[in-house]
Amino acid sequence: MKLTVIGCGYLGATHAACMAELGHQVLGMDSDMEKVAIMNSGKAPFLERGLDTLIARHTADGRLEFTASYEEAAAFGNLHFVCVGTPQQPGKHAYDLGHLFTAVRKLSPWLRSPAVVAVKSTVPVGAAPRVRDLLHEVAPAGDAIEVAWNPEFLRESFAVKDTLRPDRLVLGFDSENSRAEAVLRQCYEKIIETGTPTIVTDWATAELAKTSANAFLATKISFINAIAEICEASGADVDRLADILGHDARIGQGGMRPGLGFGGGCLPKDIRGFMARADELGVGRALTILREVDAINSRRRERVVDLARRQLDDTLVGKRITVWGAAFKPGTDDIRDSPALAVARRLHELGATITVTDPQALDNARKRHPELDYVDDPIAAVEGAHLLLHLTEWPLYSRLDPDRLAARTSTPKVIDGRGTLDAETWRRAGWTFRALGRH
Ligand code: UDX
Repeated sequence: MKLTVIGCGYLGATHAACMAELGHQVLGMDSDMEKVAIMNSGKAPFLERGLDTLIARHTADGRLEFTASYEEAAAFGNLHFVCVGTPQQPGKHAYDLGHLFTAVRKLSPWLRSPAVVAVKSTVPVGAAPRVRDLLHEVAPAGDAIEVAWNPEFLRESFAVKDTLRPDRLVLGFDSENSRAEAVLRQCYEKIIETGTPTIVTDWATAELAKTSANAFLATKISFINAIAEICEASGADVDRLADILGHDARIGQGGMRPGLGFGGGCLPKDIRGFMARADELGVGRALTILREVDAINSRRRERVVDLARRQLDDTLVGKRITVWGAAFKPGTDDIRDSPALAVARRLHELGATITVTDPQALDNARKRHPELDYVDDPIAAVEGAHLLLHLTEWPLYSRLDPDRLAARTSTPKVIDGRGTLDAETWRRAGWTFRALGRH
């Protein structure tokens, strides 16, 4: 099939490369010319496991190309996936749908023949009819343009795997047996024939599938972090407890890693956008639980700041603190709403000198937060530090030798915000060891 992907961020670039991997002829479209040039040279514009390989492979075999032109995209094929970002509005909880409607408005005038526009961007429920109305009003092909809602559930750092082997496919249409359904089934044929559950539903359910899934995942993480607060107060060990709970198949191990909580470009803004939409629909009370989920998540960050202050005898001014981790989670260079950087910035505001290290996200962090100091080597970063904070659980950090690290500082104190350092080994090496969720 010939298809396009409009918007080549974490979602779109991955989708474009994976569709080429499935055998389709793909044109990715992004208004950022620099990004287009990088991808056309066979490289991924950000870190994502396996993506570089797929982009290199399919730009070389001619199945994948990128452009900044809506006109070219519209002329290329009759299936257009819309993957643009829907961030949080500044100063509000609601989604900013500006990029979505701009993309649809710019694509529409070039749509002269029947086509399917399949939206993958995360939206507040009720956006689909607005997209349809805009397309029908502006596109020369008018109501021969069909809209499908096809939410994406990929996790960053597993995005290629999650796209090629998803847990389920969700396809939303406004009528039964639509042509759009046949087109999408053909597009995903190789995935469907491996037995992937494929749920066909209406637009609103498809839109809600994504926001409710993310709300549930965020709730699960905040639940175990609320229990971590109880553990800290009562002397229990939240890591052991999470393990015990997770053996119950009804609870499960996934999303039960206690620690500094969630960040990134999805979960925080999705729970807020979901609450804002529920308010608009007059059912705000239904989601008051998410206010608590958000509050518990923020308290994790405050708790680390508080523990740091206590470890430094209530004086942060003039203290040197090393932060291991800048990415919002391991395996990515994405620093959007990074819990690690939020803590680093707060401690900096309170007067400490902060040195941040990260194996992949330092360039992004440096550009965004020039007020912090950055060091590439995690061992050198500890030199002369009064306190070490482990805030993003890159596996390499738990492999470093605490004995060697202790020699770099005269006050070996560490706070493990992610629960992956071995307390005993660190203590044996002379470190004062504190961890979130343990007494
Ligand atoms: C998330 C959803 O998982 C995905 O389905 C959706 O499409 C987009 O949002 P992502 O943001 O890539 O994906 O990351 P995820 O792996 O879910 O982690 C989100 C955040 O929660 C990270 O900051 C991570 O460190 C944190 N987390 C995750 C925990 O603190 N504990 C856990 O047990 C799991």
